[in-house]
Amino acid sequence: MTTTEDFQVSVETAELYEAVFVPAIFAEWAPVLADVAGTAPGQAVIDAACGTGIVARTVADRVGPTGRVVGVDLNPGMLAVARRVHPGIDWRQADVTALPFDDGSFDAALCQMALMFFPDRPAALREMARVVRPGGVVGLCVPAALDQQPAYGPFVEMAVEVAGQEARSLLSAYWSCGDPEELGTLVRDAGLDVVELQSHLGTARFGSPEELAETEVRGSPLVDRITAEAFAALRAGARDVLRPFTGVDGTVAAPLRGLLVIGRVPGG
Ligand SMILES: C[S@@+](CC[C@H](N)C(=O)[O-])C[C@H]1O[C@@H](n2cnc3c(N)ncnc32)[C@H](O)[C@@H]1O
Repeated sequence: MTTTEDFQVSVETAELYEAVFVPAIFAEWAPVLADVAGTAPGQAVIDAACGTGIVARTVADRVGPTGRVVGVDLNPGMLAVARRVHPGIDWRQADVTALPFDDGSFDAALCQMALMFFPDRPAALREMARVVRPGGVVGLCVPAALDQQPAYGPFVEMAVEVAGQEARSLLSAYWSCGDPEELGTLVRDAGLDVVELQSHLGTARFGSPEELAETEVRGSPLVDRITAEAFAALRAGARDVLRPFTGVDGTVAAPLRGLLVIGRVPGG
């Protein structure tokens, strides 16, 4: 899943995303992002690239009945699941670089774990900034770079040994926005004032090291290139490399470092 086109997933895949990826990785970041962005009762918030809607759902509880939440994603499959899980939220299909809203429609635009997949990140940021009122915020959450990842760093190194250099680039999309300086520059270049840029250590939880390996590979283009033998070797390698993060019950609690950045729209 490296580009916009790759995200045209089926409802079945989106259900899997909601059942597996969201609880394992993404759910814990939504309240962190909402906290850092200062989401409060009565606000109007857009969840940009909402996927199955974990941020929108979290924020809906916080803005309450006097607030307004809209979830936007390019992918109808993701939106179908979002609608099933929370029919009360306004879910819209749109590209984040062409949001169907007037200037200044929202108090905040939040975008969790998606910026790295946008083909035109500056355009996406400018568009998120456009739909936020002066004084409002754009809040982003992305995984930190691979050299800041105590579990995923060694995992990718192992995958490269097993599956060749190609594995590095195929598994690299998730970590591609993880340089704090570059991220700050991207946000400033969109005309926003960076008021917060922090890193946060979360935990990705899986039933086993093999499950983490499967999730990583199946969520990346590597799944179409890897041989059955290499996939088996990669599962075995995951057991070794993730041993420090594997409990006596066999489950994995892998540290996952994320970056959170808040850009304020000037004026207001
Ligand atoms: C890893 S998921 C994250 C989803 C959600 N924010 C979460 O935290 O669970 C990335 C999402 O970005 C969406 N996406 C990718 N490119 C997009 C674009 N150009 N416009 C809108 N959504 C996009 C995908 O469809 C996918 O749902």
